[in-house]
Amino acid sequence: MRKSIAILAAAAALIASCTPEAQEEPRVISIIPEPEHIQLAEGSFTAGPSLMIHLDEDTPEMQRVAGFLTEKLSTAAGIKAGFTEETDRPGTVYFMNAGLPEECYELRVEPERIVIDYGTPSGAFYAIQSLLQLFPQEIFETKPVKGVKWSVPCVSIEDRPRFPYRGMHLDCCLHFFEMDFLKKYIDIMALHKVNRFHWHLTEDQGWRLEIKKYPLLTEKGQWRKETVVGSLYSGIYDGKPHGGYYTQEEVKELVQYAAERYVTIVPEIEMPGHALAAIACYPELSCGLEDHYETATKWGIFKQVYCPKEETFKFLEDVLEEVFELFPSEYIHIGGDECPKTSWKQCPHCQALIKKEHLKDEYELQSWFIRRMEKFINSRGRQIIGWDEILEGGLAPNACVMSWLGEEGGIKAAQQYHKVVMAPYPKYYLDYWQADPDSEPLAMGGPTTLKTMYTYNPVPEVLTPEEQKYIMGVEGCVWTEYMPTPARVEYMAWPRMCAIAEAGWSRTEKDWEGFTERLEEHLPRLDALGVGYSKAFFNPFIEAHKDTEYSKVITMSVDAPHAEIRYTLDGSAPTAQSALYEGPFAINRQQRVTAAAFRNGEQIGETKYKEF
Ligand code: ACM
Ligand code: ZN
Repeated sequence: MRKSIAILAAAAALIASCTPEAQEEPRVISIIPEPEHIQLAEGSFTAGPSLMIHLDEDTPEMQRVAGFLTEKLSTAAGIKAGFTEETDRPGTVYFMNAGLPEECYELRVEPERIVIDYGTPSGAFYAIQSLLQLFPQEIFETKPVKGVKWSVPCVSIEDRPRFPYRGMHLDCCLHFFEMDFLKKYIDIMALHKVNRFHWHLTEDQGWRLEIKKYPLLTEKGQWRKETVVGSLYSGIYDGKPHGGYYTQEEVKELVQYAAERYVTIVPEIEMPGHALAAIACYPELSCGLEDHYETATKWGIFKQVYCPKEETFKFLEDVLEEVFELFPSEYIHIGGDECPKTSWKQCPHCQALIKKEHLKDEYELQSWFIRRMEKFINSRGRQIIGWDEILEGGLAPNACVMSWLGEEGGIKAAQQYHKVVMAPYPKYYLDYWQADPDSEPLAMGGPTTLKTMYTYNPVPEVLTPEEQKYIMGVEGCVWTEYMPTPARVEYMAWPRMCAIAEAGWSRTEKDWEGFTERLEEHLPRLDALGVGYSKAFFNPFIEAHKDTEYSKVITMSVDAPHAEIRYTLDGSAPTAQSALYEGPFAINRQQRVTAAAFRNGEQIGETKYKEF
């Protein structure tokens, strides 16, 4: 389907016919995630100094929502929009409560006015995210921009989300990230209509959430004495302590900040595994098989887990009481993943408990643990969500499963009529390589390319239509083993997260070509916002496939649309005149494939190479 091209052509026609004085290049309608219905019309609306905003419901919340539009207009365009009560004034953006369902909106741009119909403020907020993406890309600049005509093509959009849960995760334990970065992270999520921030706060390698009743968790548990360099197998350490935590005041501030952008923060408190930082502070929470416990300094899975004794449940319930106070989220993530049973097998208490509760084995003990915690969490009016392993030994009655071990867990849970969020590795794992590992920074595995993420269907076809209704949404996971800095997080997360955001929101049919056309228009917005995304989109991805001892078969691809790959085999840099890649070919041991992508005779990305 070539919808974007069709819209491009229409846009070109309207610019030619309706704004003859303007010589702008025709622009594609490049909203990400793609709206459900877009109808282009003739003409355009131009925002100027007399722009006004009309609020049908003049509430503090709607004033704040409109502020997300006026702030951008003011910062980039220098247009200070005022508010008007007039209902028929040219040059006005009207926000009208039309009783639409939650998060839904309709947006009509006419030459004289813009009308935003919504039902809940979140719908108006999402209309603004789309409207901003109809303006020239410079609207996202964080400083004044001169010489831009602030026009929006006349268009009629009807839009609604595919899934209620559209999530993005960030692990702040393997590496700690400051508040300012978290706010920016949430801003960029909200731009893409992502509405759940899954905040990974406790781990073997560090505890990051202030708990007033257990001050050691942050005084001591935030710290690890050093961090492994390279992969967890390197055996080489940096010798530098790593720490950091969020005070409860900071948490409240971030929860509020996110809520104002219609993002709910889902906190994750890991249990019964990934608990070593807490156990290092309070060893009595463990099975007590070792005389010394220390916060982990490398990645992986650790056998020191919570022992299911009354002391531990008291601790976890106390921690959660403070979590409930801080986080209004309906769902509380209780982890549940990667809990080795080694300690429980050796622990007299655990073994006696298995007997007493007539459990079959340690897997049923894990299920018993989670059920008990679920009962407590439900008693406080909240629901649990946990990784696949909460299926082990039987799912707790009301649990939602976050399916990460491929699709299997999600399928099983949906078949049992439990809600599911699809976050499968490696498809939705943003810590996996996005391009050729030979020339990328260290990552977890892969590669999982943009195209792989985009084309993944998060609703497994083996599910019946009834079971499919239990797929509540999707999430992109950002585990930060190999992302010690905000810059590295942004590089790994974007633009691949655009593909996941689109899977979460858009009801339109998948269209890889159309997506890449919109994405190329979208990337300058991320530039303007200072997001250090990966530019692998413009580079050739050269793959050398195993063949004989003396040959490899080469395939190449590039994501950027309307591009061709030119290459050499003698080590020289390719030019627009070099051989054109037209299909797979074999190379020998003494050849080196050097390639770059070109469009209209100009190189558009980096030069890449591959040899034996
Ligand atoms: C996970 O990646 N351990 C959920
Ligand atoms: Zn035990």
